Amino acid sequence: MVRRMPTLSNVRSNRPLIAPSLLSADFARLASEVERVGDDADWLHVDVMDNHFVPNLTMGPPIVKAIADVSRVPLDCHLMIEDPKRWALGYAELGAYNVSFHAEACDDPVGLARDLRAAGTKAGLAIDRDTPIEPYLGMLGEFDTVLIMTIKAGFGGQAFIPELLDKVRLLRNARDSGHVELRIEVDGGIAVDTIAAAAEAGADAFVAGTAVYGADDPAEAIRRLRALAEAATPLRPHEATE
Ligand code: DX5
Ligand code: ZN
Repeated sequence: MVRRMPTLSNVRSNRPLIAPSLLSADFARLASEVERVGDDADWLHVDVMDNHFVPNLTMGPPIVKAIADVSRVPLDCHLMIEDPKRWALGYAELGAYNVSFHAEACDDPVGLARDLRAAGTKAGLAIDRDTPIEPYLGMLGEFDTVLIMTIKAGFGGQAFIPELLDKVRLLRNARDSGHVELRIEVDGGIAVDTIAAAAEAGADAFVAGTAVYGADDPAEAIRRLRALAEAATPLRPHEATE
């Protein structure tokens, strides 16, 4: 297996990244579903759900490890689980590129972010629908990604909630006015009719389950989503003056 590692430009610029979510793939054919997007996806989004933090139940470390072993693109693990302090490092150890845990499930997000970075992975903070972002703005430097849910976490195929982009705008202001290198990721209902609004608000990483795996040609769906996001991405302040 040859894993394509992200390049510096892929991490440091805000070139939009598309992360297909395997939640909408055929679980009986995971290896070929990974392969179907492997040349076009930037990240592969893996939703870990424990039937406690959210009512749904998906997969744990053995299956995520099997996915990591066949994926050519970096794994973006989204942990919708209780007690992430206990489990998150295991995903770093099996080779995840980014591990996002939910703020609602963790009483020491900074401590866990530091542990993840020390383990060699990117640290992500996930914010569910009903959670404000303001309490976390002071700790953004501890994270590489912030994942803003644009639905209620738990299930694919839900309708995008545009009001939740206000959190993305707050994050963008914090990122653009400070010295924070941060990917602002959105997750839930991202599709051809919603991705531009999310990009305009400041998101630069886009999870898409139904819109990719529900399409006849998932690779083409990814390219179309990326083009729409690129067209809608505003320049950052320093880019506008260069
Ligand atoms: C749901 C998951 C999402 C899900 C999105 O809680 O976090 O990643 O796969 O699915 P769509 O893109 O169908 O809304
Ligand atoms: Zn997700």
